[in-house]
Amino acid sequence: MDSRVTYDALADVYDLMYPIASPDIADTVDFIAKLSPDSGRVLELGVGNGRIALPLAERGLTVHGIDGSEQMLAKLADRDADGKVVTTAGDFTAITTGETYDTVFIALNTFFAPTSADQQVECLRRMREQLAEGGRVVIEAFDPLPYHQQEGEKTSTRYLSPRSVMIDSTHVMRDRQLILVIHTVVDGGEPRPTQELIRYAWPSEIDMMARLAGLRLVDRFGGWKGEPYGPQSQRHVSVYEAAGDEAAGTDAPGGPGDRHGSV
Ligand SMILES: C[S@@+](CC[C@H](N)C(=O)[O-])C[C@H]1O[C@@H](n2cnc3c(N)ncnc32)[C@H](O)[C@@H]1O
Repeated sequence: MDSRVTYDALADVYDLMYPIASPDIADTVDFIAKLSPDSGRVLELGVGNGRIALPLAERGLTVHGIDGSEQMLAKLADRDADGKVVTTAGDFTAITTGETYDTVFIALNTFFAPTSADQQVECLRRMREQLAEGGRVVIEAFDPLPYHQQEGEKTSTRYLSPRSVMIDSTHVMRDRQLILVIHTVVDGGEPRPTQELIRYAWPSEIDMMARLAGLRLVDRFGGWKGEPYGPQSQRHVSVYEAAGDEAAGTDAPGGPGDRHGSV
């Protein structure tokens, strides 16, 4: 199953699934802006409709985004008449922009879109390759535990608008760490189902994959406000540096020798 097909199909309702103006977006933008140098260069993998990238560009950062869905990139282009965000169409596990950035990040559940561990390692390798000296990689991911423990299929309803809802049916294949979600838009016409397949990974597993890609964990938070990460955290925001940068004295954001500032 191809995430490009999934997101081409979801592009028309994506704004309703994940509203553009939300406190979480403001926190995400603050976090990335504070981590990056003033007027720094930022790359988002899975930039989508630019929900995060556009407000980041409005903060004076140079923002580049990669996405595999032409329909999602078309939504971004519609909202970005001035071309504030530079985009590249393609698979972020396989391509790079050929440039380097102070901050390379991936948000929401996008790190789980590549559906094998090998592809997720390739994603981390591309992130490392595009990292400028002293730069940071940031990954947001949800805690897989509730899904890993799920028995059978679960169905929930998501409000989209006064005239439409989305029914999400979730089936977990625990042995392969895969989740199949069927998103069905119900709006009075023919119901429109779209399948999404993701592979979840544990935080410690992501750290190990990051090591394989030449990255080292420097900080982990429970959210974009910089909340402490702990047993109750439903997600994590993890910050990595190039393994080897520790020799240059950049051992933690905000620590001595860190030109990014603390988060
Ligand atoms: C959940 S959306 C997140 C969009 C945006 N970052 C946001 O927070 O709203 C995931 C995005 O990643 C893109 N995507 C998923 N896998 C990809 C891949 N391997 N290469 C490029 N884009 C990918 C999808 O097309 C989609 O636009």
